[in-house]
Amino acid sequence: MWPGRTRHITRPPIALVNRLARRLESEGRDIINLGQAILGLPPPSSALEAVRRGIAQPGTHAYSPDPGLDAVLARTATFLRTHKHITGASPRNLMLTCGASQAFANAVFTTTNPGDEVIVFGPYYFDHVFAIQLAACTPVEVPFAKEGSRFAIDLDLVERAVTAQTKGIVLVSPGNPTGFLADTGTLERLCQLCRRHELWLLSDETYDLLTFPPGTHVSPASLDVLERVCVVGSFSKTLGLAGWRIGYLHGPADMIEEAIKVQDALVVCAPVPAQLALLAALETIDTFSSRARSELLRRRDTMTRVLEASGLFDIHPPEGGTFLLARIRSAEPSLPFCTRLLEATGIVAVPGAAFGRHGEGHVRFSFGNQPVERILEAGERIAAVR
Ligand SMILES: Cc1ncc(COP(=O)(O)O)c(C=O)c1O
Repeated sequence: MWPGRTRHITRPPIALVNRLARRLESEGRDIINLGQAILGLPPPSSALEAVRRGIAQPGTHAYSPDPGLDAVLARTATFLRTHKHITGASPRNLMLTCGASQAFANAVFTTTNPGDEVIVFGPYYFDHVFAIQLAACTPVEVPFAKEGSRFAIDLDLVERAVTAQTKGIVLVSPGNPTGFLADTGTLERLCQLCRRHELWLLSDETYDLLTFPPGTHVSPASLDVLERVCVVGSFSKTLGLAGWRIGYLHGPADMIEEAIKVQDALVVCAPVPAQLALLAALETIDTFSSRARSELLRRRDTMTRVLEASGLFDIHPPEGGTFLLARIRSAEPSLPFCTRLLEATGIVAVPGAAFGRHGEGHVRFSFGNQPVERILEAGERIAAVR
């Protein structure tokens, strides 16, 4: 067995499905990939233009200060105030990171000690659990409650999971893989619980601007209830900048000071060309995200309709994000189900088991990944296998 700490991490079974998909594709099968979380919308052209201009500047090819370039920090803080209603947001509370992934790792390493427990809601986003394990902490799974087929948070279950070792709670709203969106009342009560037990709330807001009516995203940092909130932010989906690796961590100034140590040890700073792209792209984030939202809404509605029509799943339409987590009615385990689905229809979907034991019995469909016509085509193929 590998002697290092990565031995404790089990990789999710997505690789198996992807390997099979590649084999089928090489045999000439038409594959519809509903596995990945890629929106496929190109970033704003102003971002690309800003990078083209930046290439001529020597500073673009050097490191920036660890937290980021002053102008980009200031502009991002403005975005947090205007779009997320985090009224106290300022460059002192903020650092730019290599995506939300880096921001989450910075937050976990900064707010925990080895042996601590961190609560995650299951089904969970697996990279969170990996980061918690890398920090030598224990992820403690609290299942999402179900209101019909809607995912919800049961605060009594959370309360019961808190021990003397608990340091934080991870919230993903809008949720991956669940499509769950936290309402203000739930957030207030969760913040009060964190305050009572002196816990950090690690709030992953990767899909913040991608919600569907009547829901809107509320950041717990915008409620005046809890100081210890780490906002983990991304521009991968809301500005189409996934490959550029740019996101942010926002929180109390003393936490950010400490998190800079983690960032310095791991990556030093977010890529400078990506920071320049972000600075320009933030000017058009309203146009970009409203286009993304309306396209995603069409895709979500189509995905919901075709899966409901198949009769194979119990479904609640996701309230935000790019995923629909459908419960398999036959209770077949998710890996054989997804393998069979792929072999029979050429559709790639992710087995729910990838998202922990509470994901078992489900399939995650990424409707953000394909245009409406391809989702309709996927629906016809699924209907034919019944
Ligand atoms: C919930 C969640 N957090 C973080 C990430 C990673 O975001 P980034 O590309 O900003 O690192 C993803 C990507 O799919 C995600 O779904």
